[in-house]
Amino acid sequence: MSKFKALPGFRDFYPDDFAVRAHIVGTWREVARRYGFQEYDGPPLEPLELYVEKSGPEIVQQLYNFTDKGGREVAMRPEMTPTLARMAGARAGGIPKPIKWFSVPQLFRYERQQRGRLREHFQLNLDILGEEGVAADAELLAAAVDMLRAFGLTAADFVARVSDRRLLRALLLHAGTPEDQLTLVYNIVDKLEREGRERLIARLTGEAGLTEEAAGAVVDIFRHRELDAVREAYGADPEVAAELARMAECFAMLEAMGLRDYVRFDLTIVRGLAYYTGIVFELFDTRGELRAICGGGRYDDLLKRVGGTDLPALGFGMGDVVLRELLADRGLLPETARRVDFYVIAVTEAERSAALSLVHGLRDAGHSVEYGFRVQGVGKQMKAASALGAARVAVLGADEVAAGVANVKTMETGEERRVPVEELLRP
Ligand code: HAM
Repeated sequence: MSKFKALPGFRDFYPDDFAVRAHIVGTWREVARRYGFQEYDGPPLEPLELYVEKSGPEIVQQLYNFTDKGGREVAMRPEMTPTLARMAGARAGGIPKPIKWFSVPQLFRYERQQRGRLREHFQLNLDILGEEGVAADAELLAAAVDMLRAFGLTAADFVARVSDRRLLRALLLHAGTPEDQLTLVYNIVDKLEREGRERLIARLTGEAGLTEEAAGAVVDIFRHRELDAVREAYGADPEVAAELARMAECFAMLEAMGLRDYVRFDLTIVRGLAYYTGIVFELFDTRGELRAICGGGRYDDLLKRVGGTDLPALGFGMGDVVLRELLADRGLLPETARRVDFYVIAVTEAERSAALSLVHGLRDAGHSVEYGFRVQGVGKQMKAASALGAARVAVLGADEVAAGVANVKTMETGEERRVPVEELLRP
């Protein structure tokens, strides 16, 4: 046993694990293609400054950062959005809008380890830049939903919980939250599900300095579970009414796409990151057993602050860790067995050259081919072929080589047939 182990929160991908990862990333790429997104990537190491302020305190606490040998303050990327904002800002002028880009970076966060949260993960990032209309929000939500549908998950398995920071802002102001306390109040209500009413009121009055009455009014906002209920309670406030109208439009578009069952209005979705400005959402398993599978939303000011180009933007991140758990729970992980089309057997050393030639020809024709590196008895080679799960075995003895054929056995049926090598090599 080696005395070395992977660091806590970091994974080794043995072939079976890698096959699952490849399945996940491959499915993401396929759906991104269907939606017309183009793939990009950036550096895994960035200037520390890119994340300070932009991402907010939660992520900054979790940074893997250090001073490099040139004295630069650097950080491993904990998320992709600031890199995207930087890259797009530099080129956006010359690219037709909307820009639709996706990426699957490996990200690093020094998190407290818990189920569904590691210190590295792969995260699909899908972002739309340069479109401020709500149609883009609906399209983004549809893409997030379809990413999961493509794995065989249905509305019984997951739901997108959708809110809007502008709506929440209007409601919080209506409840009597001072404007300069909004960010702090977002952070407090972000923990709404985990903390009880009393504790929240204590934090709102203590940390954010709200009056008892305003704190009570803030907590009451979240009792409303439907868009209509919010409209009934607060719709007389014109600012609230305008924000509600946009949300209703977004839901109507999702309805038209046939995806209404997958989305639910939920004001408790705030999002931990600092840069969101509009519709925000998170995807969860319906049983409520796992952490968020996906999170995202609109961040219309970030490009101006990071990239120097004023472009509205929206996007989401979907991690591989929770998704993999959900697929495993629902029995939706793919078969990871390797596929061997042919195992080629040389009966004696004398047929070795002919066997190598056949192996190579079959591979050129596109087949997956295995053979033994050492010539052993035919029985042993047969065993090796079975152990690998080979579909067919091609045996070359002196007679076969002389006749330009191979004795091909189909392993499932046991059927054996002499097949001309020429025929085997036809693509
Ligand atoms: P986020 O909510 O921090 O958003 O992460 C998005 C998703 O990545 C989470 O829902 C979760 O599935 C996964 N994830 C995050 N941290 C971990 C972790 N430590 N271990 C395993 N999985 C994790 C963002 O990062 C935004 N930048 C997404 C975005 C893109 N917004 C706009 N564009």
